[in-house]
Amino acid sequence: MRSRAPKTAILWCGCVLALGPLAAMAQEAGGAAPPTYVGDETCAGCHEDVAAAMVHQIHQRVRDFEVRGHAVGCEGCHGPGSVHAEAGEIAAIRTFDEPDASQVCVDCHRAQGMARFKASVHAANGLACQDCHSIHQASWTPFDACADCHADVVAELQLPSHHPVREGKMTCASCHDVHGVGVALLAGDHQRINDACYDCHQEKEGPFVFEHAPVAESCSNCHSPHGAVADNLLALGEPSLCLQCHELHFHTGYESPEEEEVEIGGIRRENRFGGASMRIAFTTRCTQCHGAIHGTDSPSQTISGDGALTH
Ligand code: HEC
Ligand code: HEC
Ligand code: HEC
Ligand code: HEC
Ligand code: HEC
Ligand code: HEC
Ligand code: HEC
Ligand code: HEC
Ligand code: HEC
Ligand code: HEC
Repeated sequence: MRSRAPKTAILWCGCVLALGPLAAMAQEAGGAAPPTYVGDETCAGCHEDVAAAMVHQIHQRVRDFEVRGHAVGCEGCHGPGSVHAEAGEIAAIRTFDEPDASQVCVDCHRAQGMARFKASVHAANGLACQDCHSIHQASWTPFDACADCHADVVAELQLPSHHPVREGKMTCASCHDVHGVGVALLAGDHQRINDACYDCHQEKEGPFVFEHAPVAESCSNCHSPHGAVADNLLALGEPSLCLQCHELHFHTGYESPEEEEVEIGGIRRENRFGGASMRIAFTTRCTQCHGAIHGTDSPSQTISGDGALTH
């Protein structure tokens, strides 16, 4: 496919913008005429391998009318190449080592909101589009790119309890918008972690008559979103998780019997824990009783007007 010289006024405007920096470069280099477009076949003459590898790549199939105001083909990204094509001088072509080279990508991809990328934490850390997108390959594997830099996260996703990313049921992009500007790059530009979780776990949103304060504040008070050793993505197992904020409590209203046998509900049983029997259960899983841990509309049957998150 050949890239063509601009023909209409609209196209002309776009190209002046694209030409600007390179024209300036060429002029600094010795006042030569600004470079013009020469077309893909010329590039392929010296870059046979690159051109061959790109044949099935989407950018080589883009037509003028799809991207009005922009050149297409090799020079759509690398800029007009006539000066470079004379002798292969690197300074006369955009190599994407330039600090602001991603701008040319953003210009064509503005409709997908790519202009935001410049305000993202990735851009602030010096990442450019091509750090995740292999432009010259026919198939795109951006998620391998995440693993290169975020090996710790990929390791968390291997823990016993994890979101099903490695099973292929979701990807990093299910929760993150890598081009976005949300807190932790959360999808939908969400500024609160809970809003990202509600996208899929809507039943946790409430509002509930009896809220559990840490749930309303942030799901990550208890859950590690990528993976955890404890069940249910819990950052800590029970009861330690709860004991970070609460104290152990007992059936304080009942005295623990010392006898070897006790009668419960008319049936005589062995009193295995003796004088500690009324305390022991409370140090196991708090959610055996407080099963409505994310909030409930039902009051506690024990304390009137109180939730106690028991059901
Ligand atoms: C006359 C041969 C020739 C033509 C035609 C040519 N190039 Fe080059 N190109 C070279 C040479 C030689 C190099 C330098 C290779 C090196 O030093 O590693 C080069 C380097 C490059 C580089 C930088 C590679 C790097 O190391 O970062 C890019 C990008 C590039 N060319 C793109 C193009 C494009 C796009 C076209 C068509 C507009 C084109 N070239 C046409 C010979 C050519
Ligand atoms: C969609 C934008 C885009 C298009 C279209 C494109 N390139 Fe590139 N090219 C890049 C980027 C970005 C880099 C630098 C990063 C990389 O290596 O992936 C690059 C790197 C290069 C390099 C140096 C590295 C290498 O792989 O040898 C050459 C040479 C090159 N391009 C030539 C071409 C030629 C020839 C064409 C047309 C057949 C072309 N490019 C089309 C974006 C593009
Ligand atoms: C000349 C305009 C133009 C330029 C410059 C351009 N693109 Fe594209 N790109 C397109 C069009 C058109 C498509 C196909 C339609 C679409 O997905 O938007 C596309 C598709 C893509 C896709 C989607 C591929 C897929 O398989 O769905 C990615 C990713 C992409 N471009 C990244 C880039 C990056 C990174 C750069 C800069 C190195 C760049 N583009 C430069 C026009 C451009
Ligand atoms: C940190 C890695 C990363 C960077 C940097 C990055 N992308 Fe992407 N890009 C991705 C991933 C991952 C996807 C796939 C998203 C999905 O599946 O929803 C994607 C998808 C796309 C698409 C397909 C359309 C879409 O919205 O899904 C386009 C176009 C695109 N990127 C362009 C760009 C451009 C232009 C830049 C630079 C301004 C860029 N990307 C920078 C990782 C990245
Ligand atoms: C070239 C390295 C690199 C690649 C590739 C990369 N990242 Fe990053 N990422 C960084 C750096 C650097 C930071 C900022 C420092 C940090 O938080 O670790 C960052 C930060 C993040 C953050 C945290 C943002 C915040 O506000 O704390 C998320 C989420 C993220 N990256 C997701 C991804 C995803 C998803 C991919 C793959 C599509 C990806 N990254 C690819 C380097 C990379
Ligand atoms: C189920 C949703 C979800 C999925 C899937 C997911 N993340 Fe995250 N990620 C989050 C949330 C939520 C945070 C913010 C955690 C916090 O700040 O407490 C986060 C934080 C991050 C951070 C910054 C803090 C940290 O933990 O290092 C990086 C980097 C990151 N994610 C990368 C990735 C990558 C890479 C993938 C895919 C391999 C991925 N995430 C998949 C939800 C997710
Ligand atoms: C894109 C959809 C999606 C988003 C967003 C999402 N999840 Fe999930 N979540 C899932 C899926 C799918 C499962 C697995 C369900 C299954 O295997 O039955 C899951 C499972 C869970 C589990 C149970 C894990 C286990 O070991 O059984 C917890 C806890 C959880 N998610 C919490 C969160 C939190 C907290 C957030 C926000 C940071 C979040 N999720 C965001 C889709 C999502
Ligand atoms: C105070 C700690 C805590 C907070 C905060 C918390 N959870 Fe949980 N979550 C738990 C516990 C404990 C379990 C295990 C429940 C059980 O074993 O009965 C759980 C289980 C889950 C499960 C899997 C079982 C189910 O009920 O579907 C999902 C999904 C979940 N939580 C989502 C969320 C979301 C979304 C948020 C934020 C809105 C959140 N959690 C906030 C403690 C918490
Ligand atoms: C990050 C701190 C934190 C963690 C972790 C936490 N909670 Fe809470 N919990 C609170 C706060 C704050 C309140 C509200 C206290 C108040 O209103 O007096 C509360 C209230 C409660 C209540 C009383 C609810 C009512 O309606 O009366 C119960 C029961 C409870 N939590 C159980 C648990 C259990 C079980 C766990 C572990 C799965 C847990 N909490 C983990 C902070 C926490
Ligand atoms: C055997 C069932 C049971 C277990 C196990 C249990 N609780 Fe409770 N908890 C209750 C009941 C019932 C109440 C209501 C008040 C009462 O009867 O003492 C309550 C009350 C509470 C309250 C105070 C509610 C209020 O409004 O004052 C907190 C906080 C609490 N439990 C936290 C925990 C934590 C943390 C654990 C785990 C270490 C735990 N509970 C284990 C049954 C249980």
